[in-house]
Amino acid sequence: MAGAILITGANGTLAIPAVEYLFRTYPKYTAILTVRDDSDNYPTTRKLRETISRYPEVDASIRKLDLTSLSSVHDFATTLSDEIIAKRVPPLKAILCNACYWNLVGDPETTSDGYDKTFQINHISQVALVLRLLDNFALDGGRIVMFSSEAHSPGRAILEKFPPVIPEDLNLLVRPVANVDKAGAGFHRYGNSKLAITAWTYAFNRFLEKDPSLKRITAVTYNPGSLVDSRLFDRNVATSTRLLVQYIVQPLLPLARHQYPQMRLASESAADAIELALDHVHPGERYYLELLEKDESSPESRDEVKQERLWIKSLEWAKINKTNTALQNAFE
Ligand SMILES: NC(=O)c1ccc[n+]([C@@H]2O[C@H](COP(=O)([O-])OP(=O)(O)OC[C@H]3O[C@@H](n4cnc5c(N)ncnc54)[C@H](OP(=O)(O)O)[C@@H]3O)[C@@H](O)[C@H]2O)c1
Repeated sequence: MAGAILITGANGTLAIPAVEYLFRTYPKYTAILTVRDDSDNYPTTRKLRETISRYPEVDASIRKLDLTSLSSVHDFATTLSDEIIAKRVPPLKAILCNACYWNLVGDPETTSDGYDKTFQINHISQVALVLRLLDNFALDGGRIVMFSSEAHSPGRAILEKFPPVIPEDLNLLVRPVANVDKAGAGFHRYGNSKLAITAWTYAFNRFLEKDPSLKRITAVTYNPGSLVDSRLFDRNVATSTRLLVQYIVQPLLPLARHQYPQMRLASESAADAIELALDHVHPGERYYLELLEKDESSPESRDEVKQERLWIKSLEWAKINKTNTALQNAFE
């Protein structure tokens, strides 16, 4: 077996065609596909199962993983790690931290761990997952793809009303205040979470590079573009936003993409995400990428002092300590 590819939110709009591309193009990989709801009643999980059934030669499993629960993330990592040690699953070659959440119509929601739901799903749980699984990578390393977005960078996203920020008081990221402008505040929480994961990944790479046994693992932050057919626009958004995307943006895509090259269908970024994860694109590099081009992330995300503060706080939020990650130099 070539190794295992772990994808979170594997029934998402980008993820399903990514899984199909992986199976069709690289059938020797084992696919570990995590979903929040693994029941057959959930339409996109059913669609994921149908995709798997078309490729009986591929070793693939769907696993339940709700990223709003840190204990579930840690339990999942323990189980997968045990399976890899027991050689029931091959060592990891890639993790795609693809799952995401936003709520542009409601107040901040708090998970059972006491964190803002958007921030926990998009940042804290993905941090916990990757740090727990580092020693389960193949000896020749692999790649971790963190999904960023133009939302991380002030002044770019059309839906932005309040610029994303890493605040002086980092607790505001996990306990944001409500605002009467629910759409603006919801997108702010999303943008903040994408800014956090983008900034955090710089610090993560510095620790990986310094560790002799983990330096062959590279992490990249990847903005897949504005995916006009994303399910993100079907739920937790105002009806006006949903209708605008459905009846104006989607039909105008062939024209709009000339002026806005980042506008595309999820299936177009799906193949890119897999090629990136398999280290076929910018091999061995640790870039921030827009589509598949090396780019500069926002100035704030590149601020090393902020990256380090976020790194330390994220360990605490994600309940990562010396005993549960292979990245020992993070605690020196
Ligand atoms: N769409 C865009 O325009 C765009 C632009 C820039 C960046 N991105 C990034 O690209 C990635 C893929 O986006 P997409 O458009 O494919 O999004 P999507 O269709 O909304 O998929 C998101 C996935 O995350 C899962 N998820 C949500 N809450 C979860 C939880 N608590 N636990 C586990 N999984 C959970 C969803 O599962 P459920 O259905 O079960 O909730 C879904 O499978 C995301 O990281 C996104 O931020 C997207």
